Amino acid sequence: MTACSFANTGAEANEGAIKLARKWGKVNKGGAYEIITFDHSFHGRTLATMSASGKPGWDTMYAPQVPGFPKADLNDIASVEALITDKTVAVMLEPVQGEGGVIPADPVFMQALRKLTRERGLLLIVDEVQAGMGRTGTLFAYEHSGIEPDIMTLGKGIGGGVPLAALLATESVACFEPGEQGGTYNGNPLMTAVGVAVIKRLTSEGFLESVLARGEYLKKRLLELSAKHGLKGERGSGLLRALILDDERGPAIVQAALTMEPQGVLLNSPRPNLLRFMPALNVSEAEIDQMIDALDILLKK
Ligand SMILES: Cc1ncc(COP(=O)(O)O)c(C=O)c1O
Repeated sequence: MTACSFANTGAEANEGAIKLARKWGKVNKGGAYEIITFDHSFHGRTLATMSASGKPGWDTMYAPQVPGFPKADLNDIASVEALITDKTVAVMLEPVQGEGGVIPADPVFMQALRKLTRERGLLLIVDEVQAGMGRTGTLFAYEHSGIEPDIMTLGKGIGGGVPLAALLATESVACFEPGEQGGTYNGNPLMTAVGVAVIKRLTSEGFLESVLARGEYLKKRLLELSAKHGLKGERGSGLLRALILDDERGPAIVQAALTMEPQGVLLNSPRPNLLRFMPALNVSEAEIDQMIDALDILLKK
C-alpha cells in the first residue's frame, strides 16, 4: 500500500474507503458504485458505514439507508458472484467479523475472493479496524490468507487508545484529489506520533510472535473452560477470540462480571450466545489465568 490518508475513527476511515471506491468507479468503471458487503458485518456508525454493515436491525433504524451495499454471505463465494452486476465496483469485508461474533473469513474464501475480484475488475477492500495492527498475530489479518487487498482501513489499535485511524490504498487506486478527503484533525502530529510509537512496538523483535503465543494460551484455557462447563468450544485468531456458550446468557454474564468481588471484570458479549475476548496485546499468561478463574465462577449455573 503506497497511499495513506489519516482519520480519527474507524468509521471515518471506512467512509473514506467507500468514497474512494466510488470515485475509482466513476473514473474507471463507467460510474459503477455498488460495494458488496456481508451479513453480520460491522463497519461503523455513520450513515454510509451503517448501511454497509450487515448488523440485524440497522437497515431500519435510520431509514432510508445509503443505497449501494448488497449483502453476501461470509465464506460463500457463490453468494458474492451472484450479486455482481455492471454497477459493482468493490467487495468489502472484515478478515475476521468482530462485532458479528468473531467469525474468521476462511483463507480459501479470501483467496477465491481475490481471484474473483481481479477477474471481474473489482476492488477488494479489507476493514482491518478490529482485526489489524497485530491483533491476530500478524500485522494485518489478511496476511493469514496470503492475499493483497487494494484498499485497507485501520483503527482501534493503531492509536493504542487515542483517536487515530487510516485509509490505505495501492497507488493505482488512490485517485483522491487534494481536498476530497480530510478534516481539521486528520493526520495531526500528536496522534500520528502515537501511531509511530505503536508501529515501532508492534514490529519490534518477537512482539508479534508473543501475540501468537498468548493467543494460543488463551485458546487452550478457553477450551478447558468449555470442556469443564459443557459449552460449545471457542473460535478466533490470535488475541481476538470468542467462547461459545450453550445458551443466550452472554449479557447476564457481562453484568455479573462487573460487580464481582474483590475485582470486577470487563467482558463483552457481541452476540448473546458468546463472549468475545480482545485483551491488550501485551497481556500476560497470569492475567489470562486471572480472567479464566473469574469466568469459571461466572459460568456456574
Ligand atoms: C471492523 C470494524 N470496523 C469499523 C469500526 C468502527 O470504528 P470506530 O468505532 O473507531 O468508528 C469497528 C468498531 O468496532 C469495527 O470493529
